Amino acid sequence: MKRARGRVNRGEKKRSEKRRRRDAGTEGGDGARGGDGTRGVRAAADGGGEGRHGDDAGDGDGLSTSYLASLDEGIKRVVKANRKRAREAQTLLKRALKVKDVKFFNRMLKDFGNEKQFGFAKETFERISRAGLAPNVYSYTNYLNAATRVGETTVMREIWKSMCDSGVEPNEVAYTVLVKGESQDGNIDRARSVVREMISVGVEPNQRTYATLLRNCVRYGDVDGATKCLETMRERDYAPDATACEYFIKTLCGELMVQRALAFVRDATRDGVEVTAQSHVAIATAASLIMPDNDVAVNACRDARAILEMDLANAEKNATGSRYADDEYDAQNDGTSTDAPSKSVQLFLRLRSQETNREIDAVEAYINNVPLSRRLEIADIASKGVESSPQVKIIADDEDIEPLIVDDVDDVRVEVCSGHGDWITRRAKQNPNVRWIGIEMRRNRVALTWMKSLRLGVEGNVRLVCGMAHDALSARVTPPASVSELYVNYPDPPEWVGSSQVLVDAAFLRDVHRVLKPGGHLICVTDDPAYAVRMCRELRKARALFAPAAADGKPFESGVPEDYGTSYFDSMWTLGNQRDRYCMRYVKREE
Ligand SMILES: C[S@@+](CC[C@H](N)C(=O)[O-])C[C@H]1O[C@@H](n2cnc3c(N)ncnc32)[C@H](O)[C@@H]1O
Repeated sequence: MKRARGRVNRGEKKRSEKRRRRDAGTEGGDGARGGDGTRGVRAAADGGGEGRHGDDAGDGDGLSTSYLASLDEGIKRVVKANRKRAREAQTLLKRALKVKDVKFFNRMLKDFGNEKQFGFAKETFERISRAGLAPNVYSYTNYLNAATRVGETTVMREIWKSMCDSGVEPNEVAYTVLVKGESQDGNIDRARSVVREMISVGVEPNQRTYATLLRNCVRYGDVDGATKCLETMRERDYAPDATACEYFIKTLCGELMVQRALAFVRDATRDGVEVTAQSHVAIATAASLIMPDNDVAVNACRDARAILEMDLANAEKNATGSRYADDEYDAQNDGTSTDAPSKSVQLFLRLRSQETNREIDAVEAYINNVPLSRRLEIADIASKGVESSPQVKIIADDEDIEPLIVDDVDDVRVEVCSGHGDWITRRAKQNPNVRWIGIEMRRNRVALTWMKSLRLGVEGNVRLVCGMAHDALSARVTPPASVSELYVNYPDPPEWVGSSQVLVDAAFLRDVHRVLKPGGHLICVTDDPAYAVRMCRELRKARALFAPAAADGKPFESGVPEDYGTSYFDSMWTLGNQRDRYCMRYVKREE
């Protein structure tokens, strides 16, 4: 009996040690060794969390993955899938060393990059030389793409340097990835100088290179940058295609430059370029606001509808095109595959068409239901531009900014990451006595939200801050104890498991705690189970500052309340028919 118990105990001890090592990320053969690969394995296996808390009761210092998974099927599923993915990645990594073919490594780099498994991509790249092989231009490009896709700009620049130092000549795809990395980081000038460099060394930029640059001009409201990009295209004898035209029109309309956009459409049509429904909608939105007494917006809505109908008829064709797949910008195939459009691209196309219809409806409702006298008043406000609006504050790096809430408002509610502004403007309409503040880093989204607030007549109770959440919630902008509720709806999940660029972290929670009134609430909603786990853990660590608002003390709720409101990303969730959404409501504790 005694001996049997002893054996069982040793077995249990071994298993629990194995579990502990797995949670700490020290197990797992080659794939688990070394640098970011290690973090990738551990964190991926843990569903994106830190995985250090072997405390399955969910008590003590933190919340374990298994405890959180036991509360929700979706989390359980994802944790399981991530562990499987991590095991498969390790198997592949081991195989690659035996196969000793750089093409095999390149394919892995491409897949890890596209799946945003940056830790594994790094590990793969490092193993190329360990296998006695030399990375070629495809290896570098795919690795570059992996870093760019997860927003690791510094690493991206290091990879670029190392490619050039090792004498590998970048091709147009590598250059385009670099353009993407620089411009998505807001360095449009730097991105343009990459384009110039390409040209000077005899590598011709392609439509994708220009589209990448132009897309980011939209995001940053950079009319000048977009104009220069089109000039370069013309100099190089490159006619802008439908996508390039759309980006240019959106950049103009974001700044309410309707006349310029109309002239551009005329020229594009004359040159036989297809003008997309989304381009017409951008014109409709802007024109409805600043040109209330003519037919420009009405005509643009009509044209947009006609094109959407045609698009619907050609849906299959559109789905197989790669026109809008830029975010999926593929690394190089190295002759190893051709990809069908990913599910996410198809979902994006459907969402895009749904949103376009919705925006047409909203513009038409505005034109038909709001009296002309009121629309003329709005036109007067709108024509001064988003930057001069007293509703909007733009936080630039080098500028002092006045505090946000200067007047006496009783109930101030903030949405961090307000995106396209659907949720906040609708909530503002429902609660006119509440002051709503949206914080959003992308300028075009702030401009759109501002336009929606004018259209809905909620400009009196909506304020917008264009900038990073951390700056907007800092002491110089938001006074302490001034906010009753702070919402974070569908924040971008960390780009990869080892990413340090994550919104809901300890510093963010300290900021939120400072700005909330006593008894104020923090509400976070996400459709990403791994991020839900990570947030719950951060909130648990910050338990001196926040307590779960749920009566049973549960760290999160599965699903969102019925009357919570909808947003662009919420529609994406609905359209994608996902099963999981998580809501974390916490109340501020007094320290
Ligand atoms: C996934 S979208 C969700 C937008 C919106 N809440 C919705 O549900 O449609 C996340 C948004 O957060 C913004 N964002 C991400 N990090 C941010 C930060 N640190 N500060 C301000 N905005 C941020 C992004 O630009 C993006 O518009």
